[in-house]
Amino acid sequence: MTFDRAKFATAIETVLEEHLPRNSDLAPHLVEALRYMALGGGKRLRPAIVCGTCVALGGSMQAALDPAAAVEYLHTYSLIHDDLPAMDDDDMRRGRPSCHAAFDEPTAILAGDAMQALAFEVIAGAENVPPSTRVRMIELLAAAVGWQGMVGGQAFDISATGAEILPIGRIAQMHAAKTGALFRASVQLGGLTAEPDIDATRFQALTAFGEDVGAAFQIVDDILDLTQSSETLGKNAGSDAEQGKNTVPAAVGLNRAQTMAMQAHERALGHLESLGLSDGPLVELVDAAVNRIS
Ligand code: IPE
Ligand code: IPE
Ligand code: MG
Ligand code: MG
Ligand code: MG
Repeated sequence: MTFDRAKFATAIETVLEEHLPRNSDLAPHLVEALRYMALGGGKRLRPAIVCGTCVALGGSMQAALDPAAAVEYLHTYSLIHDDLPAMDDDDMRRGRPSCHAAFDEPTAILAGDAMQALAFEVIAGAENVPPSTRVRMIELLAAAVGWQGMVGGQAFDISATGAEILPIGRIAQMHAAKTGALFRASVQLGGLTAEPDIDATRFQALTAFGEDVGAAFQIVDDILDLTQSSETLGKNAGSDAEQGKNTVPAAVGLNRAQTMAMQAHERALGHLESLGLSDGPLVELVDAAVNRIS
């Protein structure tokens, strides 16, 4: 059960490209925007977690590539909308102009919408996954990005920005929704690809693992916004403070934020231990999620 990161890196780019439209009589600029955003870099961490979880549980990386691509499309759609002037108003993403800056606002809104739809189309047609499992995946993904998940968390984030100072417990709740839910779904989809009939206890431990990785990941994202340059991040550093965002370091300070990220990391590793996966590829992937500089 080795997970070859280099092989994954090539394979995921291929699959992401294959599912994208190449041209359209209807809206060529929309297709251009979809390709610009979906193929324009990014760490591909969530799809790596989908595939890594599948491999850790004895499945193949190949089988998990469609679910992994669906997760990455959903993530990329969330970034396109997150950067819009009405949201975080950031004109740089993945080291180049963000979608609305490279195209225009209507195109960015619609490219996000189309990319979300594409994600569900890819899952519905995932040939390496039994149809009944695809339905379960669609349900889990929809919950992860909908009103209780990513979109709900984003709505909470935006409504509080510049308006109220949230206590740390509410920030954690916001992080769990806007970021943790998609990490949770990434682990769940990888698990279901490997074991469509996975038992409830193991599935619950995987779920908790994904949530803790997501929590650690977003705290680190908040920290990096304060401590790294725009050049390193490939996005506008200092954007959170400029907008009066409720971040973990703003609420509790940098040191305590680092401790909280470490604690979430430890909890994630604890779940891996309970699953007997401490020697597998997920340890390294979680490490990459937490100990990063961009
Ligand atoms: C950025 O995610 C958005 C957050 C949830 C913090 P990533 O840091 O994974 O972005 P890319 O995909 O590597 O650009
Ligand atoms: C974004 O959080 C979470 C999403 C669901 C996109 P941030 O607003 O902190 O992400 P960045 O820093 O712009 O990548
Ligand atoms: Mg945001
Ligand atoms: Mg943002
Ligand atoms: Mg951020």
